[in-house]
Amino acid sequence: MGNVRLQGRRILALGQSLALHAKGALAGADLELGSVVDLAELPLRPRDLVLIDADAWEAPDLAAAVKTLSALKSCPPVLLVGESLPTGLVRNLLRLDNSDVLEAPFTEEQLLSAVQGLLAAAGPAAASPQAAGESRCWAVTGAVGGAGATTLAIEIATALAARPTGERVCLIDLNLADGAAAAYLGAQAAMRLADFGQAAERLDAAMLQAFITPISKQLDLLAGVRDPGAFDAVSREAVLRMLEVACECYDWVILDVPRHRRPWTLEALAGCDEVLVISELTVPALLAARAYSDEIEHALGSGLKPRIVLNRLASRMFGPAPSMAEAERALQRKAEAGVSSDWEAAAASANLGGPIAQHRPKSKIVKDVQLLVERLAGAPARNSKAA
Ligand SMILES: Nc1ncnc2c1ncn2[C@@H]1O[C@H](COP(=O)(O)OP(=O)(O)O)[C@@H](O)[C@H]1O
Ligand SMILES: [Mg+2]
Repeated sequence: MGNVRLQGRRILALGQSLALHAKGALAGADLELGSVVDLAELPLRPRDLVLIDADAWEAPDLAAAVKTLSALKSCPPVLLVGESLPTGLVRNLLRLDNSDVLEAPFTEEQLLSAVQGLLAAAGPAAASPQAAGESRCWAVTGAVGGAGATTLAIEIATALAARPTGERVCLIDLNLADGAAAAYLGAQAAMRLADFGQAAERLDAAMLQAFITPISKQLDLLAGVRDPGAFDAVSREAVLRMLEVACECYDWVILDVPRHRRPWTLEALAGCDEVLVISELTVPALLAARAYSDEIEHALGSGLKPRIVLNRLASRMFGPAPSMAEAERALQRKAEAGVSSDWEAAAASANLGGPIAQHRPKSKIVKDVQLLVERLAGAPARNSKAA
C-alpha cells in the first residue's frame, strides 16, 4: 500500500460534502460529484474509485447504489464513509472485489490512506470499456418450432454459469410475445414490455437490473411478461440497446432467438460470436436447418457461419429416423454437435421448473451440452464486437 499518486485519478464522489476533500486528501485527483444514478454509467465512463458519503443518502438509495455496483462486470474500488454505517449495507459493500469503509469523523490522512490502499489493490488506472474483458454473446435459434432451442439455450447458459471461472451469464429470451424460458426455469418474467419500450432510450445497467430475474448466483434471466402485442410495442432500437447494455454488464449473453425475422434480428445476430441453429432429426427439420443457416450466413455477409446442433439424438435408432451421418448428408455440411434425446429429463425439469442440469444432472443432455460449451467457449471468439 502507500504512495499511489492521485494525480489524474478519476473519482466519482457521491455526496456534496466530499467536495471539501478536493483541496485536502484528494488533491490532484479528478474529483467529480455525482449521485447514485450516475453509477449506472460506469461501464461507459469508467472511474478509478467511487467514494460514497453514507450520511448524504437515504437507506434505499444506498442499497440501490451497492446493488448497481455489484451488478457491474468490472466494479471500481469503492470507499464508503460516514457516521452511521448500517451493518447490512456494509456487509454487502464488502462483498465487492475491492472496497473499504471509513467511519467519520476521520482525518485527511486517514482518508488518503484508505483511498491509496484501494487504488494500490486495484492496480493500474481504469481501462476504457473496449479494453475491459470483452463479453461473449451466443445466439440459439430453432430451425423449426419445437426443435429444442429454448431447452438448449437454458442448458448452455446454465453450463456457462457453472464454470469455475465465476463468470456472469445473462440469458435473454427474445421471443418477446410468448417466450417460454421463464416458465421452463420456474421463474417469473420481470420485463413489462410496455415499460421497457418507453424506457429504452434511457436504458442503462441499473435499469436493466430492474428487468432481470435472478436464476442462480451467476445466471440472470431477461424475459418479457407475456404480451401478444410485444413485437409491435418494442422498437428495433430498444431491443438492440438492451443487448448492448447486457453485453456491458455480463461476461456471457445467451440469446433465445425466434426464427421468424424481426427488424432487429440480423443486427442482433451480427453482434454475436456464435449462432447455433438447433435442428431435430427429421428430414423437414434438416432441410429447414440448412436453408435457415444459409439465409443467416448470406444476410450477415460477415463470414460468420451458423453452427448446426442436432438435438434429440436417439441412442438406438427406432424406425426411419436419420443417423447423424445421414443427417449430415441432408444438411450438406457437418453438424457442430449432437445432443442426446432424454424426454424424461427434459419433461421432468420443465415441469419442476429449472435446468435439466439441476434436476437431472446425470442426463446425457447435460453431458452433451457441457462438451459443446467447453469446445466453443475454449475457442477464441470469432467476432469481436469492439471492432
Ligand atoms: N434433447 C432432448 N431430449 C428430449 N426432449 C427434448 C430435448 N430437447 C428439447 N426437448 C423437448 O422438446 C420440446 C420442445 O423444446 P423447446 O426447447 O421448447 O423447443 P423450441 O424452443 O425450439 O420450440 C420440449 O418439450 C422439450 O422438453
Ligand atoms: Mg422456444
